[in-house]
Amino acid sequence: MAIYSIRAMELRDISQVSQIEREAFPPPWPATNFKRELVSNSLTYYFVANEETPEQKEPAPVIEAVNNPGPSKSRLEALRFGLRRLFGGREMPAVPSQFILGFAGLWFMVDEAHLANIAVRETSRHQGIGERLLIAAIEVSIERKAKFFTLEVRVSNRVAQSLYRKYGLIEVGTRRGYYMDNKEDAVIMTAEGITSTPYVKRFQDLKQAHAQKWGNQVFLAR
Ligand SMILES: CC(C)(COP(=O)(O)OP(=O)(O)OC[C@H]1O[C@@H](n2cnc3c(N)ncnc32)[C@H](O)[C@@H]1OP(=O)(O)O)[C@@H](O)C(=O)NCCC(=O)NCCS
Repeated sequence: MAIYSIRAMELRDISQVSQIEREAFPPPWPATNFKRELVSNSLTYYFVANEETPEQKEPAPVIEAVNNPGPSKSRLEALRFGLRRLFGGREMPAVPSQFILGFAGLWFMVDEAHLANIAVRETSRHQGIGERLLIAAIEVSIERKAKFFTLEVRVSNRVAQSLYRKYGLIEVGTRRGYYMDNKEDAVIMTAEGITSTPYVKRFQDLKQAHAQKWGNQVFLAR
């Protein structure tokens, strides 16, 4: 079982994240331009699940998602802001490069949070990592007061649909022939009212259940 932290994606993670993307969504699915997303798109937010080396396995509470202070700040400032917040204003330790187990990407548009991407390395699946990335994505969407959390998923992707259903996303429509490789339809799945008291309660319960089941593997982001 992997021990990992969830943290904001950085430029140095691009090659590993691209590898995970290619593994999960093989060509001809177009590769995401991660550099552009990280550097120049203040409306996107990417997370990674970062495997911890044994000497870094210090017990710590499950993380709060690193927050982006807003579109006026550069990605680097946003990242520093988030990390300073996590470290309570103290100097951050040097961050060595690590092994990335999975990633998720979010776009914010007006009052909508759109899950653009989520994938876990094939060898690390079924260990709660995909769910933990989804939790981080929903959490930051609630913090940013998005009204909807939405995404597209292949009609045939029952595994991902089951994960999304668990977090209250329901099918609201279909995009015919959405996927370029085989013209497969996409199901549009949405959770509305994610800042409402009932949704937040359900979300917190699920997050707690995940922490009880897997939490001893998730560590404070460095
Ligand atoms: C979808 C994906 C991210 C899930 O990641 P994961 O780390 O394996 O999933 P988890 O271990 O966190 O499982 C969480 C939930 O996913 C669902 N799930 C996971 N594996 C499943 C399986 N084999 N069958 C059915 N549901 C499954 C379940 O709802 C599960 O919750 P449960 O444990 O309460 O049953 C992963 O399968 C993946 O990377 N797939 C390829 C990329 C992809 O399809 N992304 C989605 C694009 S829309």
